[in-house]
Amino acid sequence: MITSTKTVPIQKLVEELRTLPESAFIPTEPLRQFLTQMPVDAESLAPYLTWDRQHYTRNLIDRTPLYELMAICWEVGQESSVHNHRDQNCWMAVPLGRLQVENFHLVDQDLAAGRSRLEPLNTVEMNIAHPCAVDPADPVHRVINPREFNQRAVSLHVYSRPFDTCVVYSPEQGTCGEIKLHFTTEYGKPK
Ligand code: SIN
Repeated sequence: MITSTKTVPIQKLVEELRTLPESAFIPTEPLRQFLTQMPVDAESLAPYLTWDRQHYTRNLIDRTPLYELMAICWEVGQESSVHNHRDQNCWMAVPLGRLQVENFHLVDQDLAAGRSRLEPLNTVEMNIAHPCAVDPADPVHRVINPREFNQRAVSLHVYSRPFDTCVVYSPEQGTCGEIKLHFTTEYGKPK
């Protein structure tokens, strides 16, 4: 059976997120369900969407001490590095297009030596009806907008708590290193 849920403007999602207590950001499934019930109207995201043919863009929508919410814009064929989330929980919803999440198991890492071993776990698709939560037990992943999907995509990311560095991995070379994360726009304005 196909059920349709009415979309909400991004401001409504922000209002709702701001009412949530700290405890709502600890187990991942309830907030994933909440995002499933509140698909965001892509048109309401217009002030936050920026596109760059060289790299996906990160656009901050809201930040509190508990969480940050951003829109990430993916041109066809763009993908993130394989990365972690600094032990913070993460939820992703896709108001526009479709995206794949490729998950990895981190076998071991030596950050000081820049060495790591990863094993591929699974690949899941996200779209307007299927938000996903990063598994805290296996948080290493990359997001991909595959060429064959042939359309731009926008994902909304809720990170709790906010973080501004992460570890990126090369599964092929067995290397890893810390990077700083940057926003392309903040609150609808270029950085
Ligand atoms: C990012 O935050 O730059 C990457 C998106 C993600 O997979 O969370």
